[in-house]
Amino acid sequence: MDALEAIRKRRSVRRYSERPIDDKDLDKLLRLALLAPTGGMAQAWSLVVVRDPEKRAALAEIVIKGGAEYFRTVRPAGDKTPEEHAQWASDYAAQMLGSYHDVPVWIAGLMVPRNVFPADQAKWERDADITSIAFAMENLFVAARAMGLGTVPTVFHWYAEDEFRALLNLPDEVEIPIITPLGYPDEWPEGLPPALAKIRRPWRTLVHDDEWGSPRA
Ligand SMILES: Cc1cc2nc3c(=O)[nH]c(=O)nc-3n(C[C@H](O)[C@H](O)[C@H](O)COP(=O)(O)O)c2cc1C
Repeated sequence: MDALEAIRKRRSVRRYSERPIDDKDLDKLLRLALLAPTGGMAQAWSLVVVRDPEKRAALAEIVIKGGAEYFRTVRPAGDKTPEEHAQWASDYAAQMLGSYHDVPVWIAGLMVPRNVFPADQAKWERDADITSIAFAMENLFVAARAMGLGTVPTVFHWYAEDEFRALLNLPDEVEIPIITPLGYPDEWPEGLPPALAKIRRPWRTLVHDDEWGSPRA
């Protein structure tokens, strides 16, 4: 599969098989990720590869728990009581993300500040560093797709940050922008789920010709 097809066919995968990943394939993927552009060649990033079975199990629990908190706080409760809504969120996360228990590998994309910009440009440096780790993770997502491996950019660990940091023994200054499970999908999702496909904006409305406010003809 070439790069264009891998970009087109990449999908967020949330159901995984237990099939293990060959060490060589994993190394290949990690090296491709770290070939991404990095502002000022700062390489303000690290990847934590979690394969230890106990750590993987704990991480899956953290992500599912964080997912429940995300659904509880972001999805409307409708006419449910707070307790009913919390129970719904917890059941939904368990059902939607249950196969995360089977995933053979997790990869955490971390931002590691190198502090090379002057102090009054610290915000720009952080923007550059977050952008760079995002590029590395996108490399990984696309390369994984080409190799038949599934991923999904995930931030549910933000909702259980202390546990996540303790599990991976992370220093305070390291930021935790994005993680992903990595594994062979049960099956590849065909296109977006209908509810998401419906809200995909036509690409031309997101592109402006020459200046803001001039949608692509
Ligand atoms: C910054 C970012 C954070 C995301 N966080 C999550 C997440 O925590 N959990 C999840 O299941 N999907 C997450 N996603 C995946 C999006 O829901 C998904 O990319 C989007 O619905 C489009 O689907 P696609 O990836 O199949 O094209 C995230 C995506 C991005 C870019």
